[in-house]
Amino acid sequence: MENTDWHNLGFGYRDTDYNIRCYYRNGQWGELEISSSKIINIHISATSLHYGQEAFEGLKAFKGKDGKIRIFRMDENARRLQNSCEGILMPEFPVEKFQEAVRLAIKMNKRFVPPYESDASLYIRPLLTGTGPEIGVKPANEYLFMIFVMPVGPYFPEGFKPTDLIIMRKYDRTAPQGTGKYKVGGNYAASMGAGKIAKEKGFSAVLYLDSKEKKYIDECGPANFFGIKNNTYITPLSDSILPSITNKSLIVLAKEMGLTVERRKVPYEELEEFEEIGACGTAAVISPIKGIYDADLDKWFRYGEKPGKWCTKLYNKLRAIQYGEEPDKYGWVEIIE
Ligand SMILES: Cc1ncc(COP(=O)(O)O)c(C=O)c1O
Repeated sequence: MENTDWHNLGFGYRDTDYNIRCYYRNGQWGELEISSSKIINIHISATSLHYGQEAFEGLKAFKGKDGKIRIFRMDENARRLQNSCEGILMPEFPVEKFQEAVRLAIKMNKRFVPPYESDASLYIRPLLTGTGPEIGVKPANEYLFMIFVMPVGPYFPEGFKPTDLIIMRKYDRTAPQGTGKYKVGGNYAASMGAGKIAKEKGFSAVLYLDSKEKKYIDECGPANFFGIKNNTYITPLSDSILPSITNKSLIVLAKEMGLTVERRKVPYEELEEFEEIGACGTAAVISPIKGIYDADLDKWFRYGEKPGKWCTKLYNKLRAIQYGEEPDKYGWVEIIE
């Protein structure tokens, strides 16, 4: 790793030394195993391959100025994975075992945790897949849980840079009472087509409206949505969006900063009224939004070329907690010894 250009990592797959695996057989989870192979050997008729019976997570570990490695809110990821498992009939992975696996994955790949100065971090990808063979549409009887990690660059190599979103009503990411609230692969496969169009047109992501009435804001492709107006942080309440851990954290910080917080349906028309818009998630913390283009009505909503006051404050605060520069008063970070 001596020759790694930590400052220009970007967000892409990279090999590291080890990954963690755990098998579910005969109705129970086995011991955590360490592997140096990047390959898994699964049955041709595994339910994950045919019917998308798989769920995943994404979280990060950060090296602070003090040289310590911090993991952010991994208990939340563990519980969200359990919720996804419940949603698509997979056995839940125990929270403590999830935490143990994350710690082990980081320790075994310590040399890949980017240095503090680089502003980069270690991305952690847990994955739970149906591996047992079935040909009828039903849950498998065997599963494989895995964790692999990779160093990733800061989401904004040029700094905290606002981008544009696009609304296209003819594409949905999930059904109204579907799997949008679970982090399962099928949702992401369903969003690739619209995501590709958005990127080709120069937008950072698609802003999805609710798929039933197209009246309310749901979320961005890979991130939750929030808007700020009149000292209020407003974020959609919807059954078809992923409960973002970043959003949950920003809500706490927004309240601490004196903002009122509203989690409710957000009508499309309200886009007219927001002073600031942010897309939030693990990858970017906050991606400030400078414009939203409604492709069906050929209409723009503009929010200014520079990141807004509250987006900047919230971003700096959360980032400082993650890197250990601010006291962790909510017990969100765990230091890896
Ligand atoms: C669809 C979707 N929404 C929101 C988020 C943000 O969630 P989190 O803040 O937990 O990363 C993600 C990323 O995990 C996502 O894939």
